Amino acid sequence: MRKLFGIGVLALGMAAFTVPAMAADGAAVYKAKCVACHGADGQGTAMAPAFKGSEWVKATADADIASVITNGREGAAKTYKNFAMGMPKQKLSDDEVKAVVEHLKSLAK
Ligand code: HEC
Repeated sequence: MRKLFGIGVLALGMAAFTVPAMAADGAAVYKAKCVACHGADGQGTAMAPAFKGSEWVKATADADIASVITNGREGAAKTYKNFAMGMPKQKLSDDEVKAVVEHLKSLAK
């Protein structure tokens, strides 16, 4: 029992040490790649829709949001006719996509 507890503590310690070092920073990805169109606080701009308070972001599964980010949404696929351009597909690692989706969820609520 005591030995198991020790292993648990060791595993926890390792997780605490490795996870933040490996995880992509969603806010940083957003700042680098998304603010120009979606706004610094996700408030939207004349070019692209807002994430702040976005019902679409709140209601949509992470995987479907990720798919818009990696595949883009242009031409006939566009949802918002009031924005002249489409969403250009983004070149991001899986970790970065995951992290930025979490960031969008936090902006939306
Ligand atoms: C060049 C401008 C531009 C950039 C840069 C951009 N987007 Fe977009 N994005 C758009 C436009 C325009 C739309 C709306 C497309 C449409 O009409 O469906 C959009 C739509 C979206 C949507 C769907 C929102 C909804 O309400 O349906 C998501 C999610 C999204 N973008 C995420 C991102 C993320 C994350 C980044 C950064 C990694 C990013 N975008 C960078 C222009 C941009």
